Amino acid sequence: MPGTCGSDVKWYASLSGLVIHSSGLALDDEGLSLKEELLRLAQRMPKAELHLHIEGTLEPEMAFKLAKRNGVRLHYPDVDSLRAAYAFNNLQEFLDVYYTGMSVLLKEEDFYDLTWAYLQRVHQDNVVHVEIFFDSQGHLERGIPLNVQIGGIRRALKDGKRQLGISSKLILSFLRHLSEEHAFETLDLAEPFLDQLDGFGLDSSEMGHPPGKFARVFARCKDLGFRITAHAGEEGPADYVSQALDLLQVDRIDHGNHSLDDAALVQRLTTEGKTLTVCPLSNLKLCVVKAMDQHPLLSMLKRGLKATVNSDDPAYFGGYVNDNYRALIEHLPVTREDLYQLAQNSFDGAWVSEEEKAKHLHDLNRVFG
Ligand code: ADE
Ligand code: ZN
Repeated sequence: MPGTCGSDVKWYASLSGLVIHSSGLALDDEGLSLKEELLRLAQRMPKAELHLHIEGTLEPEMAFKLAKRNGVRLHYPDVDSLRAAYAFNNLQEFLDVYYTGMSVLLKEEDFYDLTWAYLQRVHQDNVVHVEIFFDSQGHLERGIPLNVQIGGIRRALKDGKRQLGISSKLILSFLRHLSEEHAFETLDLAEPFLDQLDGFGLDSSEMGHPPGKFARVFARCKDLGFRITAHAGEEGPADYVSQALDLLQVDRIDHGNHSLDDAALVQRLTTEGKTLTVCPLSNLKLCVVKAMDQHPLLSMLKRGLKATVNSDDPAYFGGYVNDNYRALIEHLPVTREDLYQLAQNSFDGAWVSEEEKAKHLHDLNRVFG
């Protein structure tokens, strides 16, 4: 069955260059100008992106370019048919396409080109800091060594800082559908590169693979002095979020939507000031929410959760970080204060020094006047 969630979301550009929802959302002049003002503000404000899988930035055009360069055969005749395959009903359907897409990434320059294209793209969105996941095991299994993966990504990140002023962190994410032993083996392989990593994460198929399965390997990462984050509560229950806190000692939660099912957990996340890296368009495309006007982001903020806005896998889910802000503004009663809070949360949850956070906040305050 073709993807059922969010397939009706279409965007078109208005004369002013702003994007208005095709549903013809009933807005009076005042409402429209308020939305326009919010869209402009969301575009202009400096922000950090904390939840981004670099393999999820593989646009169909780039996939065909790399396939040609590397002599890889794709199972789709052209860009349009590949894009048409991006219709998912759940996380697993997406992951099947996502892991197949990785087959075009073979050389250091492929990882460089992918990362550089992402940085150039989000520079237009006024993203000033990024924290990027890479799925090392998905590449190791195809015979691509870590020096190729990390070398290409890191070289682009360095150019991103030098040429675009974007600072960055790199997070090796363990695949939770594989064993903890596999994660330990990967950590051993990563030993010569630990100075090029900033943290460890946990992603891939959530159901049936609770955080507790990886308690020992994350304890080792913590012992090595690394920060930890884990996907939890995307499709999985609130208990997986609790496990990530209790058993993995995470510094952040990726997604965390199902935390809202447990009031005590919400209270705990709020008290502990844990950042949630929320991904609205991803949630829509993977049917975590049925429609954008049902997205819980604003209710997360109201309940005091430190929610942030991120794109997850922008090439697959229909947009980069500002497209996510735009979708929220068009479908939910987002306020100016919400936008400020979201940008502030993105810097607050970033793994950067207090001095860097203060500088970003200063720049944010200048935009908000
Ligand atoms: N890998 C890439 N995107 C993911 C997501 N949204 N959830 C789990 N694993 C992922
Ligand atoms: Zn993710």
